[in-house]
Amino acid sequence: MSDGREAALRRLGVVPSVAELLGAALDEALRRAEARRAAEGMTSPSVVVLDAGCGRSSALARHRARIDRFVGVDIHAPAPGALPYLDEFAIVDLCVGSGAFAPATFDLVLSSFTVEHFADPRAAFANLARWLRPGGTLVLTTVNRRHPFVAAYLLMPDALRRRVQPAVKASAADAHPLVGACNDPAALRAALAAEGYEEIRLATVGHLARAWRRRLPTFALGLVGDLLARGIPSRRSTLVVSARVPGPAA
Ligand SMILES: C[S@@+](CC[C@H](N)C(=O)[O-])C[C@H]1O[C@@H](n2cnc3c(N)ncnc32)[C@H](O)[C@@H]1O
Repeated sequence: MSDGREAALRRLGVVPSVAELLGAALDEALRRAEARRAAEGMTSPSVVVLDAGCGRSSALARHRARIDRFVGVDIHAPAPGALPYLDEFAIVDLCVGSGAFAPATFDLVLSSFTVEHFADPRAAFANLARWLRPGGTLVLTTVNRRHPFVAAYLLMPDALRRRVQPAVKASAADAHPLVGACNDPAALRAALAAEGYEEIRLATVGHLARAWRRRLPTFALGLVGDLLARGIPSRRSTLVVSARVPGPAA
């Protein structure tokens, strides 16, 4: 984002950003995984992670030096060489592919801006819980339909949304079908708890201006949306969540 737009958002109190909250959640999850592995007597403190719905970028990439094995899955294959930080990539539909990995494979799973696309979020959360090692962490970001702009976007007929998407997405490749089956704080918390997750921490943050920053009109609209909900946490546009599966705390 241009420095001017980011500075304006900060002056207007649209903070913290999703990137900041996500960075803190991933750092804490990695520290827990490293401590747990050390406590278990493993020689290497590095960890095994999954980016579930990895798309074309990963917030975990900047932590690559702390990761021993970095796996990405998605329903679409990336362009050759597009995700150089991954050790492995597999095509997996998270809502159905329960056999894609052995139980207890990963220390940390990131699933960023994916839940709104899941046909069956409970099935996806169950699969991710199965693939996490005991005590492992799931970190999610997704949209909050309690924000009126998000609700309107999710409620749009598909044909209309397809016409709006080019204005708010970087490219057609970023415009995926939307379901929004589990996209408010209460529904997300309940779905995670029902699949056995514990220590569910859920933060809300205004992210519309940053998400729609590429064009001035959509940036301005997003800024209005972020300011509208700034003082109403349950209605901010975006959810940043971390949750653990039962197991030894580090
Ligand atoms: C909005 S993009 C986010 C990509 C990336 N995680 C990021 O934060 O930039 C959503 C991604 O989820 C993937 N996706 C949607 N439904 C999925 C499913 N059921 N299983 C696996 N991936 C899925 C899409 O193909 C897409 O790459």
